[in-house]
Amino acid sequence: MTTTLQAANVRAPVRVVPAMAAQEGAGVLIHRALGMPMLPDLDPFLMLDEFKNDDPKAYMAGFPDHPHRGMETVTYMLAGAMSHADNQGNRGRLGPGDVQWMTAGRGIVHSEMPQQEQGIMWGFQLWVNLAAKDKMMKPRYQEIKADTIPAVARADGVRVKVIAGTFDGTAGPINGIGVDPTYLDVAVPKGGVFEHAVRDGYNAFVYVFDGTSVTVGEGDRARPVPRGSIAVLGPGDSVRLAAPASDARALLIAGRPLNEPVVKYGPFVMNTREQIFEAIEDFQSGRF
Ligand code: FE2
Repeated sequence: MTTTLQAANVRAPVRVVPAMAAQEGAGVLIHRALGMPMLPDLDPFLMLDEFKNDDPKAYMAGFPDHPHRGMETVTYMLAGAMSHADNQGNRGRLGPGDVQWMTAGRGIVHSEMPQQEQGIMWGFQLWVNLAAKDKMMKPRYQEIKADTIPAVARADGVRVKVIAGTFDGTAGPINGIGVDPTYLDVAVPKGGVFEHAVRDGYNAFVYVFDGTSVTVGEGDRARPVPRGSIAVLGPGDSVRLAAPASDARALLIAGRPLNEPVVKYGPFVMNTREQIFEAIEDFQSGRF
């Protein structure tokens, strides 16, 4: 009976969608897992891109100066290095394993450029929406170096890097984010199983980025999610990932939905059309 109750609470995938190849910035090849026609968004998440290229021609052009308002960008590097610089004097360099959680608030103009001329560049950028009350806040950066991101290594071989949220009592370094995000990098060894509580009512997804596939869910509601695909999770209060075929790695991302109107225009994400016009006008008149 207990088993049945637990099974009912494990979130099952309601959509499994392959990421779509696209070009971004000045011609960087990326794979978009969230924020494309098949899967436009998952409140409060607006976009997830994976960039993974070992051909410099596919990444060298980078992301020259561009604005953001009303949202947050989260960059997580796995390999290679990227620099960023904004119009308010903020500068930084992201190396392997580093995270930048950038809250654009009322507006920044920044560039994100590769700091390498060869080798692999691999990482992710997630876009997170801001609540109406936070859209015009002062911009804020959280830059987290790889060695300060806790890595939980369980006896069964499961390893979890806790970027945001809490796993097995270990809290990630990102704080003060309105949507109460969970951002975990989960490595499951072949034959292993990862289980984690994710609050019911929060939206959650899994993106598989290494290994053959991850089985998401439990029992007859489980589905295999191949590398390069995203699984949107249905209701429930826990997430279960298994790696039957090979060692595998996935992002588990969850957050509290805002349930507010979203009007997007590229990197401006507001609640009304008027606010979008205002953003364009502010940007064009140099008020960012
Ligand atoms: Fe950006």
